[in-house]
Amino acid sequence: MRLVKLIANLGYGSRKEIQKAIRNGWVTDRHGNPLKSDSQLPHEDILFDDDPLDPPQGMVLLMNKPLGYTCSIKDQGKLVYDLLPDRFRLRKPVLSTIGRLDKETSGALLFTDDGTFLHQVIAPKSEVPKVYEATLDRPLTGTEAEIFASGEMMLDSETKPLKPADLEVIGPTHARLILHEGRYHQVRRMFAAVGNHVTDLKRTQIGALGLNGLPEGEWRLLGPEDKAAIFA
Ligand code: URA
Repeated sequence: MRLVKLIANLGYGSRKEIQKAIRNGWVTDRHGNPLKSDSQLPHEDILFDDDPLDPPQGMVLLMNKPLGYTCSIKDQGKLVYDLLPDRFRLRKPVLSTIGRLDKETSGALLFTDDGTFLHQVIAPKSEVPKVYEATLDRPLTGTEAEIFASGEMMLDSETKPLKPADLEVIGPTHARLILHEGRYHQVRRMFAAVGNHVTDLKRTQIGALGLNGLPEGEWRLLGPEDKAAIFA
């Protein structure tokens, strides 16, 4: 791909702006030598304003989403994209979240610009487990684990029973729930169906990929091992 298009597709500016950046010598190789618009260099050897370019298409990143942020590219209020570099919103192909978390749910949230990877993660047949920690309004009664694991639980206005989910009790009002599918507001609706109410919800793991100390509001790029951990 021509240099101008490649850099413009990463969101650094319009094609016109990138042409200007090249003319001004802001696009260089690793030794600081200015590149021309027909230069052909491996992606990792191209610098923009002295910094290596963002990764090419195929980028996957993990964010520790804070409460109060909406998983949308355009909406009112605070958006998860506000926590990423502005240019990520302008990438082509677009950078999407892989599934969503509610505004009032925190924790592990994946993004990618790779449609095939996105579908692999969310496809029902992949059954990637998602681990949530919920704080509840009322003490657990002791019957929830069996109901959630039954494979027969029905949520309001749905026609298909939920797949079996695993509940681990952490404390009287604190539980870990492992889901193998993703339905709208699923964790909150499951606890509501057994007469409880979720007051705090965090996703701690997607497959075997955890947050591993990633601070709230921060993100990191995932390498091949992290990506494999999602399906482990
Ligand atoms: N279940 C919920 O209720 N909310 C989420 O954000 C994710 C799962």
